[in-house]
Amino acid sequence: MSKISIIGAGTWGITLANMLCSCHHDVMVWSAIPEEIDYIAANHKHPKLKNTKILENIKLTKNLKEAIIDREIIVLAVPSVFVRSTSAKVAQYLKQDQIIVDVAKGIEPDTLYTMSEIIFEEINKVLPFEQEHIVALSGPTHAEEVSVGLPSTIVSASPDESVAKIVQEVFTSPFMRVYTNNDIKGVEICGALKNIIALAAGIAHGLGYGDNATAALVTRGIHEISCLGVAMGCPIHTFYGLAGIGDLVVTCTSLHSRNNQCGIYIGQGYSVKDAIDKVGMVVEGINALDAAYVLSVKYNVELPIIRAVYDVVKFGLEPKVAVINLFNRKNKAEMPFSTLELLHENLENKNTRSTKMKRVITYGTFDLLHYGHINLLRRAKSLGDYLIVALSTDEFVTLQKKKVCYFNYAERKSLLEAMRYVDLVIPEESWEQKREDCKQYHIDTFVMGDNWEGKFDYLEDEGVEVIYLPRTPEISTTKIKDDLNK
Ligand code: CTP
Repeated sequence: MSKISIIGAGTWGITLANMLCSCHHDVMVWSAIPEEIDYIAANHKHPKLKNTKILENIKLTKNLKEAIIDREIIVLAVPSVFVRSTSAKVAQYLKQDQIIVDVAKGIEPDTLYTMSEIIFEEINKVLPFEQEHIVALSGPTHAEEVSVGLPSTIVSASPDESVAKIVQEVFTSPFMRVYTNNDIKGVEICGALKNIIALAAGIAHGLGYGDNATAALVTRGIHEISCLGVAMGCPIHTFYGLAGIGDLVVTCTSLHSRNNQCGIYIGQGYSVKDAIDKVGMVVEGINALDAAYVLSVKYNVELPIIRAVYDVVKFGLEPKVAVINLFNRKNKAEMPFSTLELLHENLENKNTRSTKMKRVITYGTFDLLHYGHINLLRRAKSLGDYLIVALSTDEFVTLQKKKVCYFNYAERKSLLEAMRYVDLVIPEESWEQKREDCKQYHIDTFVMGDNWEGKFDYLEDEGVEVIYLPRTPEISTTKIKDDLNK
């Protein structure tokens, strides 16, 4: 039996309290609104959970100190906008060995912090508290279903597996299966951004669109969220897990979702304000829009669906016009080649962005690989920890460089990949992509042979160090070809 306090008496807080109490834990509920506690004490009901009786064994308190002192686990179940202020209050009574479980989903617009980062910051203003003691609990779990014992799954995320496991044990019930995940940031990004996609799905529904549109929004939605998450340094697998695609599916398809419901009203023609009022509860997707917009600019990741919702909600763009705009975008591949490479890199756990590794990039054709190339790549690698080679595609070589390669792109790529100095090969498809690559791959140093001296100094504007290395005398692909032709 664990001693657990739930901070916040909303539908999810009360549902968790009931579930934990039914598993014989010692559960206490606190609310910032005294009337909420009085109502529950008198009726053993929550006004928004009509079919659920709140168990008598749950202790109710209006005293925050009582709710924190001596409890092993503190569950923060307040709306995301109150997480900072509530954490500050909780911190006054907290001890270092307690575990905080956050169930709010959102990103703070000013700081771009996730909920666990806000909690960490606020608590550490008062006492040294380890980040690992903060867990995000997130997944496809509508309170309306969990409160009546319908089977559900959820993710307990903490960088410390042992802490995630403690929460896993405690929150496991006959109808709740809990998985652990050490990527707390990815889990939190999923939780915050899926609400915006759910607004989009609701809007589509409200406009009278069908299941095809929902499926498209779910699929392209998780693509958007994962591209942003990967750019922020999170591993891709989180986005295809319960907190990612799992929560997105349920939020986009269920009428229990306030975000989906709010979107439906907007699609039906209600103003955003009226739609929020009609839902009558916090619509986290609306709160997450500003942060999502800033993140997409900061990490230079295109988020078309999220942008469309942003324009509808913030600028009153007609939902139908937003859909036309989405359909009129330039045709593109389902997954750009360079993104695939980046995802692959993450899957192989080679993502260095979350570490302090220095990333170097160089460009070239590298046809008939020779010792001049190898000298360059060796020196490039020695300037950092991780070397990316942007390799000219066959089309780029023919149309732009006006040359013909002996080896095709795949052959040149496999030769480079076999070299111990090269960590990643990406395609070079245009002269203009360098600035973009430097941002996307978080490049520290750009390297070229000195035959390009001065040509790429403009990359210094991106905070990239630009280095031109002396070429190895006499050898070049052109020379090899000429010599062989003779
Ligand atoms: N490079 C080098 N020393 C050489 C040849 C190439 O340092 N002897 C460098 C280039 O300056 C460039 C990179 O290797 O930064 C890739 O060059 P690439 O144009 O693919 O090779 P070349 O052999 O120069 O090809 P070509 O003769 O077709 O121009």
